[in-house]
Amino acid sequence: MKREFESKHLMVIYHSNIFKVGTHDLLLGKEQINVFECICERCGHDWIARREEAPIVCPKCKSPYWDKPISNNSANQAVLSYNTLPLSKIPQFRLIGNKYRVLNNLSNIIRRENIEGLTFFDVFSGSAAVSRYFKKSFAVISNDSLYFSYVLQKALVELNEYPDFSKLNFGNLSLIPEERVHSVLEYLNMADGVEGFVYNHYTPASKNRDGIERMYFSEVNGRKIDSIRSMIEEWFKCGNIDDNGYFYLIASLLLAVQKISNISGTYGAYNKTWDPRAKKLLSLKFIEVIHSEFRHQAFNEDSFEILNKIECDVAYIDPPYNERQYIANYHLLETIAKYDDPIISGKTGIRNYTNREKSLFCSKRTVGSALMKLLSSLRTKYVILSYNSEGLLSKEEIMEIFERTGLGKPNLYEFPYRRFNSNHNSHNNRIEEYVFVCKGTK
Ligand SMILES: C[S@@+](CC[C@H](N)C(=O)[O-])C[C@H]1O[C@@H](n2cnc3c(N)ncnc32)[C@H](O)[C@@H]1O
Repeated sequence: MKREFESKHLMVIYHSNIFKVGTHDLLLGKEQINVFECICERCGHDWIARREEAPIVCPKCKSPYWDKPISNNSANQAVLSYNTLPLSKIPQFRLIGNKYRVLNNLSNIIRRENIEGLTFFDVFSGSAAVSRYFKKSFAVISNDSLYFSYVLQKALVELNEYPDFSKLNFGNLSLIPEERVHSVLEYLNMADGVEGFVYNHYTPASKNRDGIERMYFSEVNGRKIDSIRSMIEEWFKCGNIDDNGYFYLIASLLLAVQKISNISGTYGAYNKTWDPRAKKLLSLKFIEVIHSEFRHQAFNEDSFEILNKIECDVAYIDPPYNERQYIANYHLLETIAKYDDPIISGKTGIRNYTNREKSLFCSKRTVGSALMKLLSSLRTKYVILSYNSEGLLSKEEIMEIFERTGLGKPNLYEFPYRRFNSNHNSHNNRIEEYVFVCKGTK
């Protein structure tokens, strides 16, 4: 009657009237019942299973891989499984320094360095590509000082299930959450346009309001953005959608907006003629929610404010590397995400921002001390820093900063990388991407 599962942690325990977990050869009664002590390789939970077949999932963490060892370490010690997402599941968001193209390199480096851990802190999350990529391997803590990045983090990383949307009063909403999401997106896509903040200031209609004809969006897309964004706000204020639904829909809008923006790279300027992409009609796209066994947390804080609150196993640092302030270059995404009718000015209609919103990593004068302070304040087992050969700091300067913080000399990986380029015609688009890795102080 002895049955063996594959897991090395499984043992057979005979049981009758007296039941003692962990006693192998206790056979006091007449009837022999096979019970199995199972230990989950993922979360360490142990339980007694009475069935003939191996349990399908761990009753605690629900992992179907409960009996598959991740490494030689014991089940109670969480280790990285390197279960990263295929790139097809990472939305390609146009952002300076987006690490979409180097995700596989990053995971290879992590593997090569034998980095183990449970928590991954993405301090400068941007498009949330890195956080999403690792969300199946780690409990991710993501952060960025920009609000639109926070929206992306919430939808692309924090969400482990589809938002509910069942309170929306559409007739015949499906009982299946994923199908409900499709219906809500279809509804919003068909909504009549309205003339709101985006239409009034960022389409050629701005000529009447501001005396400047801004060409970020066609008029029809400007109206669509306003109607969709204001409907999301109204639903949220009325309690028809919760936080999850709210962030999911705004993230879907941000992804859609990028596809029809009449820009060559950033929102620091608009094209003087209409790019074919800007002539397309805005259409909200379905975002696949990636389920993971971990709980993730998104933050919208200055990195220096959040560092003392976080302890982690891996801290991934991907700060701005040049002088282009993100708040200035992505002002319009910030405004659509916040939809807060900001004071705007100038040819591009840039939203007002304070010195506090400027990043210390975007100035040659301050970047060295900022990096020094950041590295010294981290409470982490491992530090991974991304930078590149066109950055304000040279790799030698970065090496020196690491050593001055007491972290020691990091390992440096270098590989060629295609530059984020706002000019399609530039041929000078090869730069070196750097990844510095070293042990932290935790
Ligand atoms: C190079 S990008 C990060 C790109 C990101 N890894 C990705 O793959 O999309 C740098 C990010 O740092 C953010 N940032 C700059 N200074 C910051 C600060 N002091 N605190 C938090 N975030 C900051 C910017 O808003 C920007 O999103």
